[in-house]
Amino acid sequence: MTNAGILSSLNKALGWELRAIAMYAHYAAYVSGIHRINLATHFNNEVTESITHAATVRSAIVKLGGEATTERDSTEIVHTSDFNIMLKEAYKTEMTASETYREILPLIDEIDDRELYDALEVVYFDELRSVEELRMMLM
Ligand SMILES: [Fe+2]
Ligand SMILES: [Fe+2]
Repeated sequence: MTNAGILSSLNKALGWELRAIAMYAHYAAYVSGIHRINLATHFNNEVTESITHAATVRSAIVKLGGEATTERDSTEIVHTSDFNIMLKEAYKTEMTASETYREILPLIDEIDDRELYDALEVVYFDELRSVEELRMMLM
């Protein structure tokens, strides 16, 4: 894999983080019913986590000499105030994010950059934890 291939994968991941920021901020604003008490805070924490992830991925792109995207992934953000739909949408988003990082890690391993590998592995584990959390929340 060339650097160009890695950069396009990292930009895909960055686009998903930018989308996650928009999605979770939207859901924090619209979540309604008794679960708003917990879920507004949860969604706002996910906004913060996604901002941190985006910063990590952006730094990786800069380090590899690429140009970081400023566009979010174009996959639709479903508008709703129903927390059940929000959690299902969040689950799909976290699954895609974890898949994306799972595919990136071997590429970073190939160019043997331990600093980048460790930084992106931390993000990958965050996404896996989110998938598991959402799986429990949806039960
Ligand atoms: Fe993320
Ligand atoms: Fe996430």
